[in-house]
Amino acid sequence: MKNDKLIDVEIKLLMEGIYQVYGYDFRDYAEASLRRRLTQWLIGSGFATLSLAQSHLLREHALFDTLLRGITVNVTEMFRDPAFFKTIRKQVVSHLKTYPFVKIWHAGCATGEEAYSMAILLLEEGLKGRFRIYATDINEEVIRKAQQGIYPLKDMQIFTKNYQQAGGKASFSDYYTARYGHAILNPTLRENIVFAAHNLAIDADFGEMNLILCRNVMIYFNQPLKERVLELFDNSLTQGGFLCLGTKESLDQRLISDRFEEIHPRSRIYRKRYKKNSGVK
Ligand SMILES: C[S@@+](CC[C@H](N)C(=O)[O-])C[C@H]1O[C@@H](n2cnc3c(N)ncnc32)[C@H](O)[C@@H]1O
Repeated sequence: MKNDKLIDVEIKLLMEGIYQVYGYDFRDYAEASLRRRLTQWLIGSGFATLSLAQSHLLREHALFDTLLRGITVNVTEMFRDPAFFKTIRKQVVSHLKTYPFVKIWHAGCATGEEAYSMAILLLEEGLKGRFRIYATDINEEVIRKAQQGIYPLKDMQIFTKNYQQAGGKASFSDYYTARYGHAILNPTLRENIVFAAHNLAIDADFGEMNLILCRNVMIYFNQPLKERVLELFDNSLTQGGFLCLGTKESLDQRLISDRFEEIHPRSRIYRKRYKKNSGVK
């Protein structure tokens, strides 16, 4: 068998093993990026092949954690896809304001930038003291970073641009203090955010959310896992609640799709329909 084909087989076997042992489902990760990431991990690991690494990975959690770090894509930004945040500000916040208290879940929050962006937006929209954000991720290391709220100063340029394009009302620099090459976000932003580890592949739903964001996470999942996670979100949302996906994700052809409507085409912001006879409009 050619070496390339052999590596494909090794990847498939390893991903199946990881799913069976740890419940992390990378079986349908985009092939090329998965292969690239595994190759990088292998170089640093000291193992000659994935087959040689496999029995250790399945038995030694600490070693598996190093692989997990290598294959979960944690890329994110503050106010990523500014047009998305602008739509939230213009078309979703007015609905959120009708509730006395709003619960929001960022599933797959990576290092926290998305959750802090939401906190800034809601504070600017006058929802101070009326919301709580639950920000979760499979990867405990990124959750620790998210809790710190400290980011490289060099990232502030792009974050500032995003913030402005997203309709930010203040000066972005009001939200952080620059120190030794880092930007330390104002600790008050964290007061409304609970960061926690949560694995969408195996953990339970969260109750009574008004808004769920799961952006750029499910693109890495296979079809059954996508359906499981969407069912989880449906169960976690109140009637009339909002579900937000990434620009390359959608509810098209999904089992839950007729329980939701997109607030406008290609916005990737879906509103859960009220049940008939619920007495609410
Ligand atoms: C590309 S980041 C997206 C971050 C942010 N939502 C955004 O759009 O900027 C994807 C995140 O999903 C997380 N993730 C992958 N599989 C997961 C799972 N089964 N449960 C929870 N989080 C998961 C990864 O650890 C990573 O931090």
